Amino acid sequence: MFRNSFVQGLVSALLLLVSSPVTAQEVLDTDPNLLAPSKDPKRVANGLAQTPPMGWNSWNKFACNVNEKVIRDSADAIASNGMKAAGYQYVVIDDCWHGSRDANGFITEDRERFPGGLKALGDYIHARGLKFGIYSDAGTKTCGGRPGSQGHEYQDAQQYARWGVDYLKYDWCSSGVRNAEEAYATMADALKASGRPILFSLCEWGNSRPWLWGQKIGNMWRTTGDITDKWTGHHGHSWGIASIVDMNEPLWPFAGPGHWNDPDMLEVGNGGLTDVEYRAHFSLWALMAAPLIAGNDVANMSAATRAILLNHDVIGVNQDTRGQQGHRVMQDGSKEVWVKQMADGGRTLLLWNRGETPTRISADWTTLGLPATLKLQGRDLWAHKEIGRIAGRYEAQVESHGVVMVRLKP
Ligand code: GLA
Repeated sequence: MFRNSFVQGLVSALLLLVSSPVTAQEVLDTDPNLLAPSKDPKRVANGLAQTPPMGWNSWNKFACNVNEKVIRDSADAIASNGMKAAGYQYVVIDDCWHGSRDANGFITEDRERFPGGLKALGDYIHARGLKFGIYSDAGTKTCGGRPGSQGHEYQDAQQYARWGVDYLKYDWCSSGVRNAEEAYATMADALKASGRPILFSLCEWGNSRPWLWGQKIGNMWRTTGDITDKWTGHHGHSWGIASIVDMNEPLWPFAGPGHWNDPDMLEVGNGGLTDVEYRAHFSLWALMAAPLIAGNDVANMSAATRAILLNHDVIGVNQDTRGQQGHRVMQDGSKEVWVKQMADGGRTLLLWNRGETPTRISADWTTLGLPATLKLQGRDLWAHKEIGRIAGRYEAQVESHGVVMVRLKP
């Protein structure tokens, strides 16, 4: 008897050892009643933003000082200064448009700042052939202390749809211990239930790695803290352009049509950088297939700023239908080579000099993953000049903090 049960025990212990135990995570991942939103096979994306969204947002220039005049003047400018024709479409009011909630819990606009109301403002924007964007927050309060959407998601989405909203940027302040994936999925469902196609921009600063779960929930997700109009470094809660680039670059495999990494809005034209640096900023955002959301005073901009924001060649790289996020393929001290594969099989090449003195940078075809003998038709996208058919490598002099950007066509 003893012998038998001893053997049985031994056999069961061995069986236990060889059979792999089911972990709690496996249960969570496979039980259809417990699926995380991003793992739900029934969840589909909204189909918007097949190329990176383009537009303008009030925050980087006006911060909390928004009102009806600022938004109307900006919409007028975008409709008439060439920006609309170049593809800039969304006019987005960031934080601080909110009034209080009404007796039924619906959000209202601040009537002192927006005396005509947001419905009329949306109509004004639409009448100019543009789209209307707005801002809220997944927590109880926005970062500017206005009412957040937590607990009011469906009501807010319904109100936005009534106002004619086409784009929602959804922030992460005062969100406490909320689970980000759940919070953003709840608002995505609410937007869907509103019946209006509304582009969904996730702004949780990359805290919960939204690139791993955001694809079926929203159209773009911030990968970093806030941008500031400085070349590099960490400044309070914000980061300079080169630092943001370094955080956003490794995430390139997660971007594609309908779902983009968002390294934050553009600072081009806000005065903190030189035009050379702004050209680098714009080129890197374009090459990284980042949303191109201008953040300057578009109603009062210099010719140099306009020439950067309206560079059709560079915008064309950003809007390429293949939707690949370009990335770094060579780094040698302050010299960098970046590449983006294009829908026509060609490449866009970016030579970036992060250093303090001008230097020559060379890109070998083999570094770009191309056969050395392949001849490609080159065009310099800032000089706006054809550079003929080239093979093997491309080399150029690049100014300090500057870029050379070349489109290579088969
Ligand atoms: C956060 C966001 C910014 C901006 C502000 C508004 O900091 O990251 O982009 O929307 O809130 O208060």
